[in-house]
Amino acid sequence: MDALVHASPDTIKVVAHQQYDAPDTLSPTSVLPNPLDQFRAWFTSVQDSVKEPEAMAVSTATASGIPSSRILLLKQVDARGFVFYTNYDSRKSRELSENPHAALVFFWREVHRQVRVLGRVEKVSKEESEAYFRSRPVGSRLGAWASKQSTVVGEGDLHEQVIEIGKRFGVQDGDSDADIPLPDFWGGWRLIPTEVEFWAGKPSRLHDRVRYLRAETQPEEFSEWKIDRLSP
Ligand SMILES: Cc1cc2nc3c(=O)[nH]c(=O)nc-3n(C[C@H](O)[C@H](O)[C@H](O)COP(=O)(O)O)c2cc1C
Repeated sequence: MDALVHASPDTIKVVAHQQYDAPDTLSPTSVLPNPLDQFRAWFTSVQDSVKEPEAMAVSTATASGIPSSRILLLKQVDARGFVFYTNYDSRKSRELSENPHAALVFFWREVHRQVRVLGRVEKVSKEESEAYFRSRPVGSRLGAWASKQSTVVGEGDLHEQVIEIGKRFGVQDGDSDADIPLPDFWGGWRLIPTEVEFWAGKPSRLHDRVRYLRAETQPEEFSEWKIDRLSP
């Protein structure tokens, strides 16, 4: 097999030409009228073929427009939007507080599909965060308490912090029912989409792209979506 990458001491050149050929054809007339329904259909259909389809890149930006991205796990989608959970003092949450807009992107390599979502964000209710937090394994709940996410931490400090927090909440080894409450600084964000794009890879880069734009003037519950094909 020919090398896919040419590496020299100071440069890497990717010379592979990946080919894409998604099994489905995608057009404004074949998709569902609501992008959240379309997302549900795609997301459900890839459960057996794609590893961690819930992993998505989430981009945020400061008030002055400096962007940053990271991978997060999608935890819920419904008619209201896309939900993920994190530390409310983290870099991403600070950026979302000062500039409540975000972009998500899913890449499902195994089926040659991409989904992009743009919109504004809001915090989910405390009750929703609590319900989700309680569903997490004890270790993850202790970890959420122990980590001052996005801040500099000394070697080994995190481990000590986890032990300390475990003692504070009386957690014994192997204790899966421990009562570890939701920290005030932790919870969910919901992205309410205003634009969603579905992409299906095709040979010679002639990919199918279908974009939904929310008609801004409509109240959210009754909003209509304008659906267009975009050039690849
Ligand atoms: C596959 C994967 C899943 C992740 N899921 C989450 C998540 O759901 N919530 C979270 O806060 N961080 C998650 N992370 C860690 C984030 O990528 C990131 O390092 C962290 O949230 C800090 O980001 P920030 O400093 O920009 O706020 C995940 C990382 C990977 C690679």
